[in-house]
Amino acid sequence: MSTPTFRAAVVRTPSGPDSIEIIDIPLAEPGPGEVRVAVAAAPVNPTDLGVVGGFFHELGMINQPERTGLGWDFAGTVLAAGPGVDLTVGTRVAGVVLGFDRDFGTYAEQLVVPAADVAVVPDELDLVAASTVPLSGLGAAQIVDLLGDAPADGNRLLVTGAAGAIGANVATLAPDRGWQVTGLARAADEQFVRGLGADFAMEAEPGWDAVVDTTSQQVWGLTPVRDGGAFVSVRPNIVPAAERGITVNVLVTQSDGPRLGQLLAHAASGRLPTRVHAVMPLTQAADAHRAVAKGGTRGRYVLEP
Ligand SMILES: NC(=O)c1ccc[n+]([C@@H]2O[C@H](COP(=O)([O-])OP(=O)(O)OC[C@H]3O[C@@H](n4cnc5c(N)ncnc54)[C@H](OP(=O)(O)O)[C@@H]3O)[C@@H](O)[C@H]2O)c1
Repeated sequence: MSTPTFRAAVVRTPSGPDSIEIIDIPLAEPGPGEVRVAVAAAPVNPTDLGVVGGFFHELGMINQPERTGLGWDFAGTVLAAGPGVDLTVGTRVAGVVLGFDRDFGTYAEQLVVPAADVAVVPDELDLVAASTVPLSGLGAAQIVDLLGDAPADGNRLLVTGAAGAIGANVATLAPDRGWQVTGLARAADEQFVRGLGADFAMEAEPGWDAVVDTTSQQVWGLTPVRDGGAFVSVRPNIVPAAERGITVNVLVTQSDGPRLGQLLAHAASGRLPTRVHAVMPLTQAADAHRAVAKGGTRGRYVLEP
């Protein structure tokens, strides 16, 4: 009898979208504490473009001689639960697979993940929208953790890239900790940013009590932060050196099932944005990557196996 397999998108020799291959992978059963999920939706995140382009291989962060799995977050349905897991078959879940150096990812028909890393998707939230929450939502929540409570002597927070997935989530969540948010974005994004409840800016003027820079290039460095303020980067490879008493932190997103459950509830209620630009079949992953690489997209390309 032949071994059952599932299809997944991977790169073997990363050199851009043309190097994405759809291959068959032998099915694995979930071990203790794990679930096997039928993936219904997996967004294309900016980081995926770096993996496919070989950027993280060149940095030495990926060393998968055979293949590298693609995709970070997902939503789907439980197909099988390992020992010690109380999620029943058919439960709708979402989650995130972290770490660069792995031969599997969420651009796949199936996935085996720790049950502790997933959360149940509320009935009111469809799986495509839910799939956009785990990486951006957890990343944003953990950025707000790094900022902590706004200090009494200054709570003005500038979030750059506020029209993007992480930036919009930070802008939404940071007021819970006392921050007064201004979102920096392109002119065409003003209405969206103000709709998050934030003020709007197009320039990063100096003097902010805290700055969260979610733009990929982070061209401003610490310049917009006041002396003694706070700065959070999303790019571990381009963190500015601390100066002028500024607290510098960098996001390294961690999985957290219970926190993800709260974020999915916020998404279901409409509090957290879940913007989807287009839904495409997994077989068109390379086309989705080419489209994202052009820039200017608002909302995720989401792949459906
Ligand atoms: N460290 C971690 O754990 C972690 C986790 C997840 C993501 N990340 C990183 O976080 C970054 C943001 O991710 P994301 O998913 O939020 O990306 P995204 O959805 O593409 O959002 C980025 C936003 O920044 C905007 N932007 C870029 N340069 C700008 C500028 N000069 N002025 C105004 N707006 C500008 C983009 O607009 P345009 O499209 O018009 O350029 C876009 O709206 C990525 O670099 C990603 O790799 C890090």
